[in-house]
Amino acid sequence: MDQDRIVVTGGTGVLGRAVVARLSTEGRAVRVVSRRPRPGSGAEAYEWATADLRSGVGAVEALRGARAVVHCASGFRRGEEEALARTVVAAAREAETPPHLVYVSIVGVDRIPFGYYQAKLAAEQVFAASGLPYTVQRATQFHDLLRALFAFSAKAPLAPVPALRFQPIDVRDVAARLGELALAAPVDGRAPDIGGPRVRDARELARVYLLATGRGRRPLLPVAVPGRVFGAFRAGGNLVPGEPYGRIGFEEYLGSVAEPRSAAYHR
Ligand SMILES: NC(=O)c1ccc[n+]([C@@H]2O[C@H](COP(=O)([O-])OP(=O)(O)OC[C@H]3O[C@@H](n4cnc5c(N)ncnc54)[C@H](OP(=O)(O)O)[C@@H]3O)[C@@H](O)[C@H]2O)c1
Repeated sequence: MDQDRIVVTGGTGVLGRAVVARLSTEGRAVRVVSRRPRPGSGAEAYEWATADLRSGVGAVEALRGARAVVHCASGFRRGEEEALARTVVAAAREAETPPHLVYVSIVGVDRIPFGYYQAKLAAEQVFAASGLPYTVQRATQFHDLLRALFAFSAKAPLAPVPALRFQPIDVRDVAARLGELALAAPVDGRAPDIGGPRVRDARELARVYLLATGRGRRPLLPVAVPGRVFGAFRAGGNLVPGEPYGRIGFEEYLGSVAEPRSAAYHR
């Protein structure tokens, strides 16, 4: 069987859609994996596999003929992130030539003791222990996540904003890196972390968001929370020092979003 295609798990998600768009534009054969059936229209440019990576139903077929798997599917429930990783590894083992597994993680998962981040670290370890060709790519927070956070905060008359710094990255920049990695030889470890073009105070980013959505005069309430998670963020555990990878800034991102008022995140 030809092993040309790049399988994108979570190809319906915020990052996955950008990865699929990027690879399709480059003329690659792409297969989206989702729990949902193929939509009636809008998905003609790529293959589609319906699979549940938690239960494993459909996973082997979903990965069949894959040269690489960009694993963007993710779950927040307890044990879910690791379970999805285990399913991807088990399905990849079934292939005659196992595909290159590219896993998307988050900068600082080993420094910030937040439950979801600990689950990401455990999933990284599933790939590392698999003996299969793999690459882990950690990225900083996506612009979409901060937009969703600020959209939520902006509902209050005094918009609460965490007293933290972020280095948000655009999913199109992350997709560019993941596309390159999928086609390259596996690192069998971590590729260098990637972050957005600038480290910025959350208050500054919130102000940019409020201005872009016509609420520039809304007062902000910087919030500091005691505890180890907040402390680790405050210490810069979520940042990537050195030359930034991402090129698209928060203003440019907001300008490219059709309806900046609506949050991209369903959660
Ligand atoms: N958000 C950030 O700031 C950030 C930063 C760095 C890294 N990351 C990482 O980037 C990755 C993508 O994040 P995202 O924000 O794009 O996620 P998202 O929009 O929430 O998408 C999650 C995807 O997971 C799929 N999925 C969930 N459970 C599944 C299951 N049981 N079987 C098959 N597919 C399943 C969903 O597909 P269906 O619903 O179609 O089944 C959906 O496409 C995650 O690993 C995340 O940790 C995120």
